[in-house]
Amino acid sequence: VSCGWRNGPAMFIGVLRRAIEDDDVTIDFISISRFVPDSGRVKIKHDLECDIGGRDVVLVEDIVDTGLTLAYLLGQLSARNPRRLSTCTMLDRPQRRIVPQEIDYRGFELGTEYVLGYGLHVRDLYRNLPYGVAADRDTLVSRPGADVGRVSPGAGRAVGAPGSGEGPGCGGS
Ligand code: IMP
Repeated sequence: VSCGWRNGPAMFIGVLRRAIEDDDVTIDFISISRFVPDSGRVKIKHDLECDIGGRDVVLVEDIVDTGLTLAYLLGQLSARNPRRLSTCTMLDRPQRRIVPQEIDYRGFELGTEYVLGYGLHVRDLYRNLPYGVAADRDTLVSRPGADVGRVSPGAGRAVGAPGSGEGPGCGGS
């Protein structure tokens, strides 16, 4: 079972699924939300549809930042007695970690830059970019839909896109 939370990791899960030859894989989603802003406390908004008891489960994240989301989800899923529970993230930002997390499969490591594209968003915008882009989050919050290539110096830098020659990225396909 491959479980993503909300729709952030959906594009990444699609890439992973294409790379896995095994037919016997279920993709399911769990959605959580903070119910007290900035308290770190969350609740499940949409739960998995499948029973993960006795199954091998990979929890897939788009990005692990503080690690609070992953810690919460691991607690929820491990209580359902999967045979094995492992973790996978497209991007990892260990500098901001609050809850230490062992991640079994990591894509790319980030610094402090905010990243958009490949499922990552600001107010649900930019998810569809076919690559990861480092951008100024505050500017985009004040100008929703602004061109990430123009909003601020350094914004729009393609992260790991072909030819960028640097850093982590989400790939481009
Ligand atoms: P954590 O609970 O602090 O680890 O946060 C994980 C979640 O924060 C991710 O699943 C994203 O939804 C969001 N997030 C963290 N950093 C970024 C970013 O750079 N771009 C977009 N979303 C982010």
